[in-house]
Amino acid sequence: MRLRTLRNLNAADLEGKRVLVRVDYNVPLEDGQVKDDTRIRASLPTLQFLLDKGAIVVLASHLGRPKGKVVPELSLKPVADHLSMLIGRPVTFIPDIPSGAEQIQQAKPRDLFLLENTRFYPGERSNDPEFAKLLASYGDLFVNDAFGTAHRAHASTYGVASYLQPCVAGLLVEREVRYLTEIRDHPKKPYTVILGGAKVSDKIGVLEALLPKADRCLIGGGMAYTFLKAQGKAIGDSLLDEESISHVERFLQTFGDRIVLPEDHVIAKEVRPQEPLEIVEEEIPEGYRGVDIGPKTIAKFVSLMEGNGTVFWNGPMGVFEIPGMDQGTLEIARKLRQVTQSGTITVTGGGDTVRALHAAGVSDEEITHVSTGGGATLEFLAGKSLPGLEILKEEE
Ligand code: 3PG
Repeated sequence: MRLRTLRNLNAADLEGKRVLVRVDYNVPLEDGQVKDDTRIRASLPTLQFLLDKGAIVVLASHLGRPKGKVVPELSLKPVADHLSMLIGRPVTFIPDIPSGAEQIQQAKPRDLFLLENTRFYPGERSNDPEFAKLLASYGDLFVNDAFGTAHRAHASTYGVASYLQPCVAGLLVEREVRYLTEIRDHPKKPYTVILGGAKVSDKIGVLEALLPKADRCLIGGGMAYTFLKAQGKAIGDSLLDEESISHVERFLQTFGDRIVLPEDHVIAKEVRPQEPLEIVEEEIPEGYRGVDIGPKTIAKFVSLMEGNGTVFWNGPMGVFEIPGMDQGTLEIARKLRQVTQSGTITVTGGGDTVRALHAAGVSDEEITHVSTGGGATLEFLAGKSLPGLEILKEEE
């Protein structure tokens, strides 16, 4: 996919111009503070690029799902403060989007603004033309750098492009598309995919797209039990995704030689802290559920991560939020760092996976590419067309 990007513009296209930038600052907040700033930091190269060229930068983002109403806990104000700290310059917060015009009109080159949560306005999610026009009136051009929201056809991610040209991809979107296209279409071999997380149904499209390209696919986490069940193994009370069984059977039939499933499991009667844990091989007894991959499986998975051209990881291997149920996930995260150091291209993404990476003490810089998308990354890898990227495509 060829996108028009920021790099295609000349200095004159940007100097003194108002640039409306859609970012994805949908970040976790706790007690009015940003809890994880991965997405904010990921936007900095684009912001710095624009400010260095003397642009006036107007940022727009959503936060959470306030359903078209003002929800004070979902205000972007704490994000404006956090961004200001990270970028080392003032960020003017516009608390009411419709009344921002005067302040933005009077701006000087290198001024930086953040609009309030776009989803406080019903026109955002309905892609209302009037709301899209209002947003468009705040820029002379549009940069979409919100990869995580590229699967939404909302006013600020999609509709705005009808009223504001040129529209180009920011540096984050460019980077995401480059790495994710590579692992989807032409990964450097050998190629190992590691998938986990609770539901198989979320990963059907990704399995469909990646299994034919991968040399092996290591499956852990809640989704592994549906695969084990399809193989006729006892899974006790572990998570089972009945609706996906037929897909799973098909995957096992066609790609059985490259699918690697857990051989042992950490099990518990309840998923809660302090719960007694046991390790079993192969079969899980009734009354117990798998909560992590076992030590044998960890050893096998980490050894299969060695010597690859590419490793892609999405989804935890167990209930990593609970001590004792986190070992599989943490070991995979640490091994990912190690193989990156040995020259493997490593790509990971998804909210839980990135949290797990950080919990293991691995920073984003120690991995080749940490995708900022959750649903958007999975849809992109499954080969779906993303509205937020469609508007950035080069004419064929
Ligand atoms: C995400 O966190 O995946 C994106 O910001 C999109 O959020 P949404 O699922 O609420 O549209």
